[in-house]
Amino acid sequence: MSTREAVLEMLRDAYGDAVSGEEMADELGVSRVAVAKHVASLRKAGYDIEAVVGEGYRLLAVPDAPLPAEVSLWLGSELWVRLEGGGETGSTNDDARALAREGAAEGTVVLASRQTLGRGRLGRTWESPEGGAYFSAVLRPQVAPSRVASLALAVALGVSRGLDSLGVASEVKWPNDVLAAGGKMAGVLLEMTAEADRVDWVVVGVGVNVRAPEMRVLGAAYIDDIYDVPVPRAVAAILDGVASAYADWRDGGFDALREEYAEKAMLTGKSVAVRDAGGALRAEGVVAGIDDTGRLLVVSAEGIFPVEAGEVTLRS
Ligand code: BTN
Repeated sequence: MSTREAVLEMLRDAYGDAVSGEEMADELGVSRVAVAKHVASLRKAGYDIEAVVGEGYRLLAVPDAPLPAEVSLWLGSELWVRLEGGGETGSTNDDARALAREGAAEGTVVLASRQTLGRGRLGRTWESPEGGAYFSAVLRPQVAPSRVASLALAVALGVSRGLDSLGVASEVKWPNDVLAAGGKMAGVLLEMTAEADRVDWVVVGVGVNVRAPEMRVLGAAYIDDIYDVPVPRAVAAILDGVASAYADWRDGGFDALREEYAEKAMLTGKSVAVRDAGGALRAEGVVAGIDDTGRLLVVSAEGIFPVEAGEVTLRS
């Protein structure tokens, strides 16, 4: 634990009572000036810390943002070994990719409360205003690259598990959108580097709409449409959901998740059109389900078309 984290822990443990700067300095083996610097850095990150003359520092409020020190209080899974970031960044996927290239361990996570260059699937922009939760995790599954397409489905299911654990009933829309409260609540973007037969790393990016901004994104739903949950708690629940689905997928492949995915798949039985990134029609028909590798099965008069990737729209 860093000294800054230790200062925060001492303030938190005092439950709103003042802790003297001298006492903290003694216990942590640093100077009072160093303690004051850490307090200033915590305030900059959004912690409301009052200085009481003759008494010390009192923690009054913590930020409702996905800061590592707040998220880790709620986390259950041991997969997440390192949490970074928590404030504004360009794209957490870019940050996590840079860490993965430097050799970051599986379970490294970059968090953000706002992104200025958030990316979505198919080259789209992912609006990432304050009040949302954006994170990217480094995974290093020992599998062939061809299996990673089904990991995207597993991650979406994990996000859905996380939302369910918060009391937000959710569904998945193939391949990896998570819907709840009548709109899209979360999206998943996977990026990877692999050799011919082996994945080096996968960066799993997840964007979750937690608090509704003044200008709501069309078609989006927000956790606080249903339930007022602290952002760090929402992020931890979703990270835990992703960890559990990832463990199931690693141990048993997509087959281990197929039934659960099918139960939550909102497209089954619906009439759809599937287009590729360029907008060309790939398949049209009724969704019969998902096969054991995660492909969408679209049935038309010409037969069954297994679709590996694409954008699905509902036909009326
Ligand atoms: C989609 O539905 O199109 C996928 C959206 C994925 C957005 C997340 S937010 C965290 C991570 N960083 C990014 O730039 N994108 C992903």
